[in-house]
Amino acid sequence: MWLLIALLLGVPAGGQVDTTQAVITLQPPWTSVFQKENITLWCEGPRLPGDNSTQWFHNSTAIQTLTSRYSIISASVNDSGEYRCQTGLSVPSDPVQLEIHRDWLLLQVSSRVFTEGEPLDLRCHGWKNKLMYNVIFYQNGKAFKFFPQNSELSILKTNTSHNGIYHCSAMGRHRYTSAGVSVTVKGLQSSTPAWFNIVFYLIVGIITLVDTVLCMTIHKKLQRKKKRNLAISLDSNHGKKVTSCLQKDRHLEEELKCQEQEEEKLQERTHQKKPKKEER
Ligand SMILES: *[C@@H]1O[C@H](CO)[C@@H](O)[C@H](O)[C@H]1NC(C)=O
Ligand SMILES: *[C@@H]1O[C@H](CO)[C@@H](O)[C@H](O)[C@H]1NC(C)=O
Ligand SMILES: *[C@@H]1O[C@H](CO)[C@@H](O)[C@H](O)[C@H]1NC(C)=O
Ligand SMILES: *[C@@H]1O[C@H](CO)[C@@H](O)[C@H](O)[C@H]1NC(C)=O
Ligand SMILES: *[C@@H]1O[C@H](CO)[C@@H](O)[C@H](O)[C@H]1NC(C)=O
Repeated sequence: MWLLIALLLGVPAGGQVDTTQAVITLQPPWTSVFQKENITLWCEGPRLPGDNSTQWFHNSTAIQTLTSRYSIISASVNDSGEYRCQTGLSVPSDPVQLEIHRDWLLLQVSSRVFTEGEPLDLRCHGWKNKLMYNVIFYQNGKAFKFFPQNSELSILKTNTSHNGIYHCSAMGRHRYTSAGVSVTVKGLQSSTPAWFNIVFYLIVGIITLVDTVLCMTIHKKLQRKKKRNLAISLDSNHGKKVTSCLQKDRHLEEELKCQEQEEEKLQERTHQKKPKKEER
């Protein structure tokens, strides 16, 4: 029973984000850039008062920067790789994979791995920010969106159907085609909504409570009955009648009824025999 109550109090909040984990945001928001472009990484997380310090990791090696902002100016191939950050009261962030490319056309995505329901932004980006025409976005080799000029494409709420490899093509001096970028949308882990868990534990809790109360009531009644039995057996006149009643009616409900009747009788009797008892 205590186990159930413990379970009730500690209802696991499934699918909740760890609030003490640091988070990296990119500015501009793309996980891949061309060489010589600039990109700034920001680290957000809980801090100790008076302690701004942020620890950054690049390819699992701590880097010197201790501010919440890590700026990459004129990116080179060596700047690519995995970035993590950590603030005073946080656990290290999820990694951000940064890619530095050399190409004519680049399909940029805001994130490569995320959870269903989160937004996804895509951009077909030309080298040196050149204006491009007749831009086509592809998912798994299939064209799904056309723009007359470079444009960003936003998917506000992703679902698992957005999984796949994306690329784009666009007209400049020639028609250029970008490399493919793999995007993974993870389905929600728990298919049961949160309210279901709450209602389930609530019902279990109520049943446990009702059970406990019933159990205690019956236990008390039985104890009272035992005491009364003792009192009754002392009574020589009516004792036999009453005990036979108790022996006959084994069934609990009937016993209880029987007890109620006896209780009335007993009350009458004790009332009559009060002076006699006080003599003992
Ligand atoms: C990158 O930043 C530097 C210094 O802030 C600036 O001079 C340069 O023009 C920037 N490059 C790009 C591509 O924006
Ligand atoms: C924290 O950051 C602010 C500005 O962002 C700065 O003025 C202050 O000196 C910093 N404090 C410490 C302890 O680094
Ligand atoms: C990248 O790193 C390698 C060694 O780690 C070094 O030899 C090379 O010069 C670096 N390239 C740039 C562009 O910084
Ligand atoms: C980090 O790793 C990436 C590939 O994983 C590599 O291209 C890059 O040069 C590495 N950078 C450093 C500074 O180790
Ligand atoms: C996924 O989202 C698209 C809209 O972006 C919608 O048309 C499609 O029906 C959704 N698919 C599923 C399986 O929910």
